[in-house]
Formats: sequence, structure tokens, C-alpha cells
Amino acid sequence: MRKIIIDTDCGSDDAVAIIMALKSSEVNVEAITTVCGNVPLNLATLNALMTIEVGNGQKPPLYVGSNKPLMCDLVTAVNVHGNDGMGDCDLIHPSLQPEEEHAVDAILRIVSTYPYEVELVAIGPATNIALAIMKDPITMKKVKHIYTMGTSGFGRGNTTPVAEFNVYVDAEAYSVMLNSNIPMTIIGFDVCLGDAALNKEDMEMLMASGKKEAEFSVKCNKALLDYNLNRCGEYIIDLPDAVAMGVVLWDSIVLESLNCYCYVCTKEAATYGQVIIDDGSFPAVSNGFTNNKPNALVCKTLDNKTFKRKMFELLIK
Ligand code: RIB
Ligand code: CA
Repeated sequence: MRKIIIDTDCGSDDAVAIIMALKSSEVNVEAITTVCGNVPLNLATLNALMTIEVGNGQKPPLYVGSNKPLMCDLVTAVNVHGNDGMGDCDLIHPSLQPEEEHAVDAILRIVSTYPYEVELVAIGPATNIALAIMKDPITMKKVKHIYTMGTSGFGRGNTTPVAEFNVYVDAEAYSVMLNSNIPMTIIGFDVCLGDAALNKEDMEMLMASGKKEAEFSVKCNKALLDYNLNRCGEYIIDLPDAVAMGVVLWDSIVLESLNCYCYVCTKEAATYGQVIIDDGSFPAVSNGFTNNKPNALVCKTLDNKTFKRKMFELLIK
């Protein structure tokens, strides 16, 4: 049985990804670790605890992690996910409690216990993972694989024209993670759009399923739906973290991916959080992009139809 640790800044799309993993019979969720991002750490923790409670699946231990990025002040996404990160629908009243151990220590302990078996699923900023790498790089070399929802992939940013949110919150941490030589798969924001998003019919189906975790998955994304309606008039809920979890659980949905050299911009404000993805097809002659070996497999095309079918099968089973 595959062993995964989910590192999350538990906003509303994270919640759907977590429920997918908790209900899956293909992975054992060894731990959930929380990090600041969509919302401050305390809310991300409450949201993740509530998600475990309603998830109707595994009940993994939860460990609390970093309450601020490595170098910057926290920038949240409450404008997208709601002030509580979960749609501001008064859904979050967990009775579960987090463990005492810090998330970074828990990650190192679990990886050390199961060398070369643990896969990290990073669906928030990379702060906890970067701290673990810096604290004990030898142990972290025993991580089997990192799946990261992050970067704008081969498309535009969602937080600035060039930066995706998870990287923008802590670009230095993302750079540490990318340069760790841990095998890595990147699910960029670009492959989480279009028909990977929930449409009105999908939402109505989930709400009518009679499964509380399916209803929770729609209700907690109310703020995201309103954000999309106001921003572009589309009645959709894009779920980047759920798409990333889909890649973790069902790698057959990845129709095209490229081994790339990825470089994180951290120096200039205008490009802070941009990840330049070099697939090797450019005749680059300038320094910085010549002869760099790939450091991540970047998803380019997904089978969204199969992804949504399998996600719904999990949510309403
Ligand atoms: O850019 C999308 C990512 O940022 C998702 O993980 C979302 O939850 C936010 O953390
Ligand atoms: Ca997230």
C-alpha cells in the first residue's frame, strides 16, 4: 500500500483533495501536515481537522507546521476562498485535535521510519518541506516522490501575471524543494482549468448524492464559485489540489508530461514566484539555461473526463 503525507494550507480546494485521499483504497495517509497559505495556519489547521472529520474515510493524525513563509510576510487567498478559507458557510466546527509534534519533525520521523516509501503530496506553499530539507537533508533524500500542486505550468500565473499562488507565498521554499534532487512531479495551475473544473451539473449531482462529504466539497467552495462568477461570469469551481490528488492516485490520467529544468525567480518583485520551465527545446545559449539537468516532471495534458469520473466515484461512494 502506498504511503503518503499531505502537506496542506487547507482552503476549499485542498479539502476536496484530502477527502479523495481519505476515501481512496490505493493510499495510506500516514499524516496530514498544515502550513500557512490560503489562510493563516490556525484556520488551515481547523479546516483540515474538519475535513478529516467529515471525510468518511481514513482518520490520519494531523501535525501543525509553519505559520509564516521563510522570508516574506504571509499573503493569503481569503479573497478567493473566503475569510475562513472554506466558503464562510459556518461549516468549520472540528472536535478532532492536532498532535503535539511539529509538522517538520513528523515528516522527518515518518520518512525515516519508511525510507524510500513515503510520497509527499504538497498542495500548499512549500515552507514545511523546505524546512525539513534544510533541517535534515540526508533523511529527506529518502523521500520516494514529491507531487506538488504549484507553478503556472506552461500557462499564466493566477496571483501575478507570472506567479502561481503556492509558489508566490514562499518562492524561496519552492526553490529549496525544487533543488533537493527529490524525484518530483509538478501539477501546474494550467492543467487545473477548463473541463477539469466542476460545472453546475457536477455540483448539483454532488449535492443530490446524499453523501455529506460530497455536499461538504461543494458547500465549502461557495466563495470560490462566487469569485469565479464575479471575475469571469463562469459558474465553475476550479479545484487545483483535487486535480493534483487525481494525478497522485491515478497516474494514467497524465496524457503528456515533460522532464524539465525549473527555475524559481526570487530576486525581483515583478517576477517573484515565477517558475521558468525549460523543456530543453530552446536553443538557449545564455548562462542559466544551458546544460541544466531536469529537476521535475511537469504535467502538460490530463485526461479530465477520466479524472472527474474517478473523483466523483470516490466522493459519492
Ligand atoms: O494556485 C492554486 C493553489 O493555491 C491551490 O493549492 C490553492 O489551494 C492555493 O493553495
Ligand atoms: Ca492549497
